[in-house]
Amino acid sequence: MSLTDLTTTTNKNFTTTTANMKILMVCLGNICRSPLAEGIMQYLSDAQELGWQIDSAGTGSWHVGEGPDRRSVRTARNHGIDISKQVCRQFRRHDFNDFDHILVMDMYNLSDVLYMAPDEESAAKVKLLLGNREVPDPYYDDSQFEPVFELIELGCKDFIKEHLL
Ligand code: 4NP
Repeated sequence: MSLTDLTTTTNKNFTTTTANMKILMVCLGNICRSPLAEGIMQYLSDAQELGWQIDSAGTGSWHVGEGPDRRSVRTARNHGIDISKQVCRQFRRHDFNDFDHILVMDMYNLSDVLYMAPDEESAAKVKLLLGNREVPDPYYDDSQFEPVFELIELGCKDFIKEHLL
């Protein structure tokens, strides 16, 4: 399925329950996977006029203030999505207040974020983007950026389908 398949479907079943939803995408460095996830989900949301606001963050602080990894920028651009203006930031406890959903890429992210959750309501916002499997870290393997894009795209489309009644 291409990126446009979902964007051209009618949004007649869209209800106010999901209007203005805020979603945070989280990975380790916030330079490879979660910037792609932010870009893809924002693109799909905008195309379907869902009114969702998407952001991303990393559990680590190494790359704070930097733009996304150039391999992620290039891969997104190949699919018509510009993520070059994003700026890396670290996940913070206040994100539990600011977002309705916190979607993480792998089990390390899941445990790091859950460890910071102040209460059950906050913890309930945190889920693997893919539900029951991980988005692998492509940082050390150039060939993995395209498959990672496709995995994230699938996860975003499934999430949207789940939240359109
Ligand atoms: P990401 O990938 O978590 O998908 O952004 C990584 C980027 C950088 C590092 C690790 C993972 N790092 O160790 O610098």
